[in-house]
Amino acid sequence: MIDVGALRTAIGRVEDPEIRRSLEELNMLRDVDVSDDGSVRVLVALTIPGCPLKDKLTEDVTAAAQTVAGVVAVSVEFTSMTDEERANLMTDVRGDAGSEISLARPGSKTRIIAVSSGKGGVGKSSVTTNLAVALAAQGNTVGVMDADVWGFSIPRMLGVDRPPTVVEETLFPPEAHGVKAMSMDFFVPDDQAVIWRGPMLHKALEQFLADVHWDDPDYLLIDMPPGTGDISISISQFLPMAQALIVTTPQITAQRVAKRAGLMALKVKQDIIGVVENMSWFTGDDGKKYPIFGEGGGAALAAELDVPLLGQVPLVPEVRAGADAGEPIAVAAPDSEVARAFAAIADEIIERKPRLRSHPQLVIN
Ligand SMILES: Nc1ncnc2c1ncn2[C@@H]1O[C@H](COP(=O)(O)OP(=O)(O)OP(=O)(O)O)[C@@H](O)[C@H]1O
Ligand SMILES: [Mg+2]
Repeated sequence: MIDVGALRTAIGRVEDPEIRRSLEELNMLRDVDVSDDGSVRVLVALTIPGCPLKDKLTEDVTAAAQTVAGVVAVSVEFTSMTDEERANLMTDVRGDAGSEISLARPGSKTRIIAVSSGKGGVGKSSVTTNLAVALAAQGNTVGVMDADVWGFSIPRMLGVDRPPTVVEETLFPPEAHGVKAMSMDFFVPDDQAVIWRGPMLHKALEQFLADVHWDDPDYLLIDMPPGTGDISISISQFLPMAQALIVTTPQITAQRVAKRAGLMALKVKQDIIGVVENMSWFTGDDGKKYPIFGEGGGAALAAELDVPLLGQVPLVPEVRAGADAGEPIAVAAPDSEVARAFAAIADEIIERKPRLRSHPQLVIN
């Protein structure tokens, strides 16, 4: 005989893959039917019809049911919640946050790190992606917000293959390699350009923060667009506690440009967590390190900004290949030199909690 109570409990503990709460808590488990021959029929109410994670739920519910003695076969069926049930559930999930930015509340446990640089193409998005998966691999909950509204690249680099799910007004960010992601990429049809001006950008970024169910991750990394424009100002207004991480190449001229991003961070009173030097060297077949983009830019910038150099990331074709394939090198080849560099930088970030000091007054020139 199947213990129906135990069966209900086992299935009730299954988590909704998106909301990350148990079916029991979410009142999604509607019926559990047991036949004499050991077959079990489960009815689950979804928040929205055609929920993209049906397969995962079916798998998890089946596995949970099969842990109970006597269960021979499991069939999972779905129904949808009523509008009222859905509205109640969302009030419950979002708490009293409403449309405010819960990440910005005093006491929020989320550390927010804006990955910035003075100029484009130095590897902000690659560093953001790989640090995010490195932090997640160490057991942290991590989100990445792609604030590069025009040049979004996070979903592709992270290998996110589906858009967010929208329930009521709330967006549930899709996840890949343990990292949740939100990007303009999900909302702009292919081969169309984003031509928004400041106020619309500001609004879009606000929605990415207020209407997205980030669920208070341990870390939220923000992939910034190149330079120091409106977006940097908006982010600092929405998230005054965000820290900045400055990416540069070893080239001295690049370091001068990157300094501007650092000074911008200080101007908007962002604590600078440190500098990451990317594309530091290329190791040839002969085992020799070739400093293709020069040397010393990262250390010089760190010294000038009076912050630590958190690490140097070598130039390796696999970083680009991993980004193109949506398999970040930090997870694709965790023992490689470059993955270890990212893991070490993640460790530095974990160690260096925000400093509680005021900033020296600096003037951008
Ligand atoms: N360490 C590295 N080794 C090899 N290729 C790299 C490395 N870092 C970045 N790249 C490649 O360099 C290019 C630019 O990197 P990425 O897109 O991360 O820079 P970015 O600073 O975010 O650029 P943008 O300013 O356009 O947003 C990409 O093709 C990326 O795959
Ligand atoms: Mg980028």
